[in-house]
Amino acid sequence: MSHYAVIGDPVQHSKSPIIHRLFAAQTGQDMSYEAITVEASSLSKFIREFFANGGAGLNVTLPHKEAVFALTENCSERATLARAVNTLFMDSSGQLSGDNTDGVGLIRDIQTNHHFAIEGKRILLLGAGGAVRGVIGPLLTERPANICIANRTVSKAAQLKLEFAARGAIQTGSFTDFTHQEFDLIINGTSMGLHDQVPAIDGVMLAANSCCYDIMYKSSDTAFVAWAKQHGAQLAVDGLGMLVEQAAEAFAIWRGVRPETAAVIKQLRN
Ligand code: ATR
Repeated sequence: MSHYAVIGDPVQHSKSPIIHRLFAAQTGQDMSYEAITVEASSLSKFIREFFANGGAGLNVTLPHKEAVFALTENCSERATLARAVNTLFMDSSGQLSGDNTDGVGLIRDIQTNHHFAIEGKRILLLGAGGAVRGVIGPLLTERPANICIANRTVSKAAQLKLEFAARGAIQTGSFTDFTHQEFDLIINGTSMGLHDQVPAIDGVMLAANSCCYDIMYKSSDTAFVAWAKQHGAQLAVDGLGMLVEQAAEAFAIWRGVRPETAAVIKQLRN
């Protein structure tokens, strides 16, 4: 049996063990998957020992994604762009490798599960922390009309614009700087939802047929999803689908088989 785990702090609330166990049952893979609390001070040691003891793969969650990127020499292009790792494995030459499946998870949930095409769309990203950094590269790959990043600390948005300049044009500003523009897709990557708050944006910014996507998820509507419904967004969804899709991508990297996600999303939602 192959052993996998998600590491974070705190991590006991993580849905990753349920998701990967459902994937394993569905695809007939002989594997275990558990959630392990790892403190920042023992991160490097834990990872080294996990793989030395025959562990097959790790997922990395808050607050360790950036630290694990710094610890991993062999990272995929998308992890390097995100400067964050959420998936670790040994490559065919036995080298510890890092990848980041968050961005592709978001894209797949929006485009495949919710049938909302990103190409040609006007996108507003709310926030400029790790969650937003991880999705900019994959969003630009889908050739949107433009991407604006609004953040409380405008300098952090400006820093992201600099880093991604070679990949596409990005505008930056505060939440209220974009109230004169319309957007087809607004993605909330702030952590304000943890306090049931929503960034100070205006309903007039929603174009016809717009989609509002909250990277956060909850058993009831997140504050941002509730805001989007109130203001008439055509689609208002939270990040549960993204969570399952990023897990499916990690599972495919590890096991070479892609699980079906729709049934798993439905099961978690219920
Ligand atoms: P994560 O890795 O989850 O993205 P993070 O890097 O701490 O976490 O980023 C949190 C994001 O939420 C940031 O964009 C942060 O804004 P600042 O860059 O100005 O700190 C945003 N955020 C958190 N609390 C906020 C609040 N009360 N009002 C506005 N923005 C907030």
